[in-house]
Amino acid sequence: MNKTIIISNRLPVDLSFNDITLNVKSSVGGLATGMKSVHADGNGIWIGWSGLTEEEIPAGRHHVVDEALRGKKCIRVPLTQYDLDNYYYGFSNKALWPLFHYFQAYTEFELVHWESYKEVNRKFADIVIANAGQGDTIWIHDYQLLLLPQLLREKRPDLTIGFFLHIPFPSYELFRTCPWRDELLQGMLGADLLGFHTYDYVRHFISTATRIAGLEVRFNEITYGERTIKADFFPMGIDYGRYHGAAIEHERRPVNSRSEIMQNIESHNISYADSRLILSIDRMDYTKGIPNRIKAFEYFLEKYPEYKGKVRLVMLSVPSRENVSQYQKLKRETDELVGRINGRLATINWTPIWYFYRSMPFDDLIDLYVASDVALITPIRDGMNLVAKEYIATRTKSDGVLVLSEMAGAAKELHEALLVNPNNFEQVADSLKYALEMPLAEQQSRMEALQKRVSRYDVERWSSAFIKSLQETKDVVTQTQAV
Ligand code: F6P
Repeated sequence: MNKTIIISNRLPVDLSFNDITLNVKSSVGGLATGMKSVHADGNGIWIGWSGLTEEEIPAGRHHVVDEALRGKKCIRVPLTQYDLDNYYYGFSNKALWPLFHYFQAYTEFELVHWESYKEVNRKFADIVIANAGQGDTIWIHDYQLLLLPQLLREKRPDLTIGFFLHIPFPSYELFRTCPWRDELLQGMLGADLLGFHTYDYVRHFISTATRIAGLEVRFNEITYGERTIKADFFPMGIDYGRYHGAAIEHERRPVNSRSEIMQNIESHNISYADSRLILSIDRMDYTKGIPNRIKAFEYFLEKYPEYKGKVRLVMLSVPSRENVSQYQKLKRETDELVGRINGRLATINWTPIWYFYRSMPFDDLIDLYVASDVALITPIRDGMNLVAKEYIATRTKSDGVLVLSEMAGAAKELHEALLVNPNNFEQVADSLKYALEMPLAEQQSRMEALQKRVSRYDVERWSSAFIKSLQETKDVVTQTQAV
């Protein structure tokens, strides 16, 4: 029986060693949830990096890691510290990540990073090939593995290969600045189906394929030698039931069992009447527009001083890629901005920005979502942005307002949000005021429409739509071969 192999940079597990004892936790991230049924189906397996470098696994314990992963239907690609520094922090996160998010000035094109990227993609290919049966289906995820489709195709033309990009695909004008653009494009073209979050990313990819490789395109089908490759959009959703259910559960929990933040909010009666909460949650990443957001909030307080003392920005920034200097710079800039604004405007009873630089347990996140009157999500560029959808899922009374950057892929679906240009502080400030003063009936009619869409197009539907489309490409190939 054929199986589906899922491949991503990280496996959906959290591993850690306590001396020589291995702790294994399953990850409940968006991708892990979306892939749940694909992974559980038959002999489905997941191939990726375990999260521990070879050097981090204690001597003689590698087989323990392998066995634990086997129990979770996972197979690891062993990565060394060198691989991590050059393939992951290097080419993936210092070249592709900034380039694909239009931060051209941040891109570092280093040959040593590129060589390592190729080498690690080959390591992935070897392990996939060793585990793939005749005619299996392969679903590869994200920008760390752009070369993998072609590496597999060369050795195993029998496989059906799908690839999904979780970040934006940039305009051809950006993509062509990469010294290894031809190789990257050829790498992706090894797939039968290329999936993106939005139609715009599909368009950019198709224009890149025609301009760089001179390929012929009809609608969304690219002719590449004897093969036809389909490029299509599949906007990723969330596990709506999990977030919505947790928010209902939250309301049932006694106040003293709630998070410290929530108890504080409730003991000061902060979320109501005279003090409103504006929520901001992201990884600490320069694509998320964190400094701009803080400055726009400061501008809002200057323009509408009646809100001083009455509104707080609760900002959760989750540490990410801390080895990369641009991320360290961003952290320093954010610390300074928050310090300056709080220092300038705070009173004994009021701090304008509550800033948390850490990750938070799921229940605490739900507390924050539930307590917030407005979610302010203003990335400079974002492939999708699932936080926006999570906020929507937790509004059990359909109140609350989402202020969302038009540069997030999610803006293409979430029309009833207040859409803003994150660089336009005037517009962000005015939208915040509008959100805080929006009559309940308008909040509810917007939120209900958003909830209907986000609950219908959830992550399960996203993965099944992709797999169905991949299956169709397989059927077409099989029929053509039969003729
Ligand atoms: O948004 C792209 C993405 O790769 C997500 O899939 C992932 O959750 C996030 O970036 C962080 O990735 P990492 O910490 O593995 O670099």
